[in-house]
Amino acid sequence: MRSVTVKGPATSANVGPGYDIFALALEYPYDEIQLSLTDSKGIKIEVINNIQNIPTDPKDNTAGLAASELLNAKKIDTGLLITIGKKISSGGGMGTTGASAAATVFGLNYLFDLKMSNNEMIDFARRGEVASGGSPHADNVAAALLGGFVLVKDYNPIDVLKLELPRIPVVISAITKSQRTTRGFITYEIGQEKLKAQMARCSRIIHAIHTADLVEFGKALSVDYIHEPVRGAAIPGYWGIKDKVIEMGAYGCTISGGGSSVIAFCPEERQKEIADYMDTAFSSNPSYKTTIQTFTSNQGVQII
Ligand code: HSE
Repeated sequence: MRSVTVKGPATSANVGPGYDIFALALEYPYDEIQLSLTDSKGIKIEVINNIQNIPTDPKDNTAGLAASELLNAKKIDTGLLITIGKKISSGGGMGTTGASAAATVFGLNYLFDLKMSNNEMIDFARRGEVASGGSPHADNVAAALLGGFVLVKDYNPIDVLKLELPRIPVVISAITKSQRTTRGFITYEIGQEKLKAQMARCSRIIHAIHTADLVEFGKALSVDYIHEPVRGAAIPGYWGIKDKVIEMGAYGCTISGGGSSVIAFCPEERQKEIADYMDTAFSSNPSYKTTIQTFTSNQGVQII
């Protein structure tokens, strides 16, 4: 039986104003996906210690759906067992669905020596995301595959640019949401002034990365007019906690991906204090899980 185990990092998509086009990879946590080729027909999914109730029907699971899309497109007839070891909190906007899909596509590329380009792998992995949010957004899967900061330059055809990041200290409070996705509540009618501000913020983020200016990076990512108003309204105390985190010395603070996790970027000497504050501030929220201290990472999926 041929088999490979792949580590897929947590990611934080949108990075403030970059809805569906920006994301970055985190050093920790990560999921571990084992792919084993079998003699039986079809795709089977097992989730180790499935306390998060991750779907195991391949069409409802991002790894299963991505694998099925890839195997069909490449006309590969094989049985496949996908064993998922979840370490990333599910349903919280920390990219666990993208990590699983990205790791699965990367692992299949390796097992069958398909020599796919990064963009082709991202394209298959993003199709897996339909199982989770109903939309083939590429931001999380691109950051999980490539690591670093990613910019989705184009969706048609998919074209992604990776930028290396300094190792930025991160605090992330994992908060789950009851819906699979809140994308349906987002209105894109933000008006001319906010549209201009949104475009300026996105440009500022890219410039801040090029110049390694973390203060500017944090300021630019802390304002968003597309998804943050909707998702912030669903997190009790969010706006006040965000202001306090910035007052405590964070470079910036926003909602991670589809929410409801909250992510702050800060100098290392402020990291523990901000983590302790966020842990206390969110502790009365019944959907709050834990607060993690981690770092941005330039490492994407890797075989272990
Ligand atoms: N860009 C996606 C969204 C990321 O905001 O819905 C989901 O984690």
